[in-house]
Amino acid sequence: MLAGDLVTLRPIEPDDIATLASFLNDLEVSLLVGGSAPVPMPVASVTALHERRRESSDEINFAITATDAGARLIGQCGLFRHDVVSRTAELGISIGHREYWGRHYGREAVSLLVDYAFRIRNLRKVCLTVNASNQRAIRAYAAAGFVEEGRRARHVWNNGRYIDIVLMARFAEPA
Ligand SMILES: CC(C)(COP(=O)(O)OP(=O)(O)OC[C@H]1O[C@@H](n2cnc3c(N)ncnc32)[C@H](O)[C@@H]1OP(=O)(O)O)[C@@H](O)C(=O)NCCC(=O)NCCS
Repeated sequence: MLAGDLVTLRPIEPDDIATLASFLNDLEVSLLVGGSAPVPMPVASVTALHERRRESSDEINFAITATDAGARLIGQCGLFRHDVVSRTAELGISIGHREYWGRHYGREAVSLLVDYAFRIRNLRKVCLTVNASNQRAIRAYAAAGFVEEGRRARHVWNNGRYIDIVLMARFAEPA
């Protein structure tokens, strides 16, 4: 649906769920993604989660496929927590296959998603939160035009310690 040089963003299909569940059950990936503490997620639970998300008017989710690998499914991304009055939403992304980390697949997926948010959905501002220790993600977001807006100090228990959370955002147009 949204095509770049490295990745394509397309709908999440039932055949994708087992792969997406394997990403969710990868502890390293889950800890990088952040948020609530990882728990085991059976495929049936991930199927139900995606059905709820599909029904929700507040969530827009895409599968990320690599264009150079026979359209291999490598992750997912999406927009959620829409505020229709302020025209904001939050962005999330996770690439589950490590061999695609650090090769600009993520920043291109973020750029495609942000372009969709602004040009197609007429959002004004896209926000995200990221673990301060996740420098790979912070660099990818900065490359896609996000700037740091603030930090929550020692905010989340993650992998045996409290870590800072960085708030980042990108406006559709300069403020
Ligand atoms: C975060 C994520 C989407 C970023 O996508 P990506 O394709 O890996 O990132 P990019 O290659 O576009 O950019 C990564 C940047 O960090 C650098 N980098 C790579 N590994 C790094 C590391 N371990 N520490 C610091 N910087 C690193 C890269 O050199 C690159 O910078 P540069 O090319 O500007 O010099 C992807 O890595 C991912 O999904 N990771 C697992 C889950 C996750 O962290 N999700 C984000 C939750 S907020």
